[in-house]
Amino acid sequence: MSQEVRGVIAPGKDEPVRVETVVVPDPGPGEAVVKVQACGVCHTDLHYKQGGINDDFPFLLGHEAAGVVESVGPGTTEVEPGDFVILNWRAVCGQCRACSRGRPWYCFDTHNARQPMTLTDGRELSPALGIGAFAEKTLVAAGQCTKVDPEVDPAVAGLLGCGVMAGIGAAVNTGQVGRGDSVAVIGCGGVGDAAIVGARLAGAARVIAVDIDERKLRQAESMGATHTVDSRKADVVETIRELTGGFGADVVIEAVGRPETYEQAFYARDLAGTVVLVGVPTPEMRLDLPLLDVFGRGGSLKSSWYGDCLPSRDFPMLIDLHKQGRLPLDKFVTERIALDEVEQAFDRMHAGDVLRSVVVF
Ligand code: APR
Ligand code: ZN
Ligand code: ZN
Repeated sequence: MSQEVRGVIAPGKDEPVRVETVVVPDPGPGEAVVKVQACGVCHTDLHYKQGGINDDFPFLLGHEAAGVVESVGPGTTEVEPGDFVILNWRAVCGQCRACSRGRPWYCFDTHNARQPMTLTDGRELSPALGIGAFAEKTLVAAGQCTKVDPEVDPAVAGLLGCGVMAGIGAAVNTGQVGRGDSVAVIGCGGVGDAAIVGARLAGAARVIAVDIDERKLRQAESMGATHTVDSRKADVVETIRELTGGFGADVVIEAVGRPETYEQAFYARDLAGTVVLVGVPTPEMRLDLPLLDVFGRGGSLKSSWYGDCLPSRDFPMLIDLHKQGRLPLDKFVTERIALDEVEQAFDRMHAGDVLRSVVVF
């Protein structure tokens, strides 16, 4: 017996999103139906709506979510009805070369739910990032569910499913920020701010926030940045060097996704420092660096994919730290909205007015 719920659909390229009836099938083997409690509005949802990811319209948007497992398919062992879970993009196989080497974020054999959710006319929906959680209920692979402590606000928990995890993970997992390190974060949106929070968590002594928007810099301070640089007014590389005794930062996190900010990150690091690219560039972007400068500096250049996270390890740990008051995750929730307000939330996100709008059910 399938069931009908309300969900936010992107019907076609650049068309406004709208709430429609979504048919959610009963879970098959290895699948789970999750009653969604909260789902954050992320840039990737907007990219889907704009046709920037692929043309598989109609999309069921939403992918930064937490909720309660309602039912599971036959033989499912990962979760059971009643579990409070955070959703992740793909279930990993656990056996391929990447998984066995402890890097499941590069898994070769990830999967989502096998059955499609549909509109009432039978048209198949493409769930954003294999989740589709701007809906009262959604069908996912059981392996996409990570059980966490239920005594946490679902609006906060859901954020770990995407942007906040990407930022914290860029600092903690990819950048391996250590106690006493100096860290610079270029671009202080949701991802950059989460990188600041992650750097503080890892014990960074200095966290230098760089942005072109004063409001973002003030917000970065409230997240734990110790210094701020307005890159329209000051030379980013020079200022970061000055603030780090002339050396450059031990870890520089680029959270914009542009060649000029990556170049700043490259030169603003200590000779043996690490650059982490977490901002997502577009296919046409190129970087032109003197090879001698690459040769002349040690350290490492890394990219961070989903914060290089292990959901089963990182989600419960971060929820626990938040519960203890050691992670200000609630500061990322700017506003709580209803399902039919997603279109307006995209406008506010585009204008840079919010860190996260979260749909709550
Ligand atoms: N220098 C410094 N900061 C900049 C610059 C620049 N040249 N250009 C833009 N910014 C700042 C913006 O002012 C904003 O505060 O970068 C920030 C980007 O934040 P958001 O647009 O909110 O994006 P966010 O969700 O944080 O994601 C950042 O990470 O995961 C990726 O796809 C995501 O590429 C995106 C990046
Ligand atoms: Zn996202
Ligand atoms: Zn695998």
